[in-house]
Amino acid sequence: MILHKFKNQSDLDRAAADLIISMVRSKPNAILGMATGGTPIGLYKEIVKTYQAGLVSFAHAKTFNLDEYVGLPITHQESYRNFMQRNLFDHIDIKRENTHVPDGNAADVDAECRNYDKMMFEQGPVDLQLLGIGGNGHIGFNEPDEHLSRGTYKVTLKQETREANKRFFNHIDEVPTHAVTMGMGTIMQARAILLVVKGAEKAEILDRTLNGPITTQVPASLLQTHPRVIVMTDCDVDYKVS
Ligand code: F6R
Repeated sequence: MILHKFKNQSDLDRAAADLIISMVRSKPNAILGMATGGTPIGLYKEIVKTYQAGLVSFAHAKTFNLDEYVGLPITHQESYRNFMQRNLFDHIDIKRENTHVPDGNAADVDAECRNYDKMMFEQGPVDLQLLGIGGNGHIGFNEPDEHLSRGTYKVTLKQETREANKRFFNHIDEVPTHAVTMGMGTIMQARAILLVVKGAEKAEILDRTLNGPITTQVPASLLQTHPRVIVMTDCDVDYKVS
């Protein structure tokens, strides 16, 4: 893993955006793995600025998002399809048909999961997967557990995840209880991974991710086994290479 530390979040956002932009410049038909939540909003703004300045095009790029809530209509502001349109896709020249977000409203969710994996298998692998991290160490919505899933699946969100995400809703009761997420196997197939971690409150889980035991109780710790992971953070954490 490579750890880049930043003094402030705006420098971090710019550097993370630049990495994604340079991937698309060097490979215009790159496949990007996208994330939602609070973490990527600033870096998506930087990507939009660069696009608006005419310095990058996404006309041939494809995206696959990590996850989507189950049962939230895509017209809902907080559905991840809606989030991606508002924060990125509506402001760049990516083709709608080249963007993929799991359908959390599919009549047959298991079939949707299999279909998502099939599309990723046929079109992938992802060239650069962007990740945030949950306070409990989840990536995508792969929550800490005794076992982790390989492919895309429907997950029951942990109470702490719903609590963390209630800031985007009016009330905790509105936060969906389930989501569809890429599995760990799918995430680990990406050629390269960019993990962005912001805020002092994430320092402890980032330390466990980088330096702790590899355990399904901290799903992000599995990233230690991936050959090309770049971590960008404003946390005061070191990578202790043994
Ligand atoms: C979102 C996702 C999640 C978030 C994580 C952190 O697509 O996959 O793993 O990255 O929950 O969320 P924020 O950035 O809101 O702290």
